Amino acid sequence: MTIHMSVMISAEEIHAKVKELGAKIDAHYAHSDKELVLIGLLRGSVIFMADLCRTISKPHELDFMTVSSYGGGTTSTRDVKILKDLDGEIRGKDVLIIEDIIDSGNTLSKVLEILSTRNPHSIELCTLISKPSRREIELDVKFLGFEVEDKFIVGYGLDFDQKYRHIPFIGEIGL
Ligand code: IMP
Ligand code: MG
Repeated sequence: MTIHMSVMISAEEIHAKVKELGAKIDAHYAHSDKELVLIGLLRGSVIFMADLCRTISKPHELDFMTVSSYGGGTTSTRDVKILKDLDGEIRGKDVLIIEDIIDSGNTLSKVLEILSTRNPHSIELCTLISKPSRREIELDVKFLGFEVEDKFIVGYGLDFDQKYRHIPFIGEIGL
């Protein structure tokens, strides 16, 4: 079977954007004396986070969390369950949540709610991609890579049925 993939965002564009985001993150946290921790939401954020953390000069920790949406109703009424919690403490730290893509905003708003109760010094959001037309819950995203139209995309961590995460660019699958 031949899969046709059209490039929406090239590997070069992604790498330039990741560098830019890393510089913005460094500038933002330069004057904080708190510990910085990047929290990646598994599994989609791993490729982005691996590249992004290497563009950030300020020393920081990496931690990971797996959450899943479940239940019925619209996406905004779904709850989020923690499948794998953080390994470390975030109390008093600067927390930067790393996500691959924000669609409805439901996942991240629930994650923010959960992590805020643990009394971090600060929490900010960083996403490589946002689909603003799909948003059901407004989120204040401090670090944003690309805004895209409402199309299903894969690659650079994003999957379709757990596949295509390894594709080095972001593309649309043509069936
Ligand atoms: P939200 O809770 O609706 O913001 O969902 C965000 C999650 O939906 C992301 O972490 C992805 O796992 C998934 N998602 C949304 N749009 C896409 C897409 O175009 N391709 C792959 N995964 C997507
Ligand atoms: Mg995801």
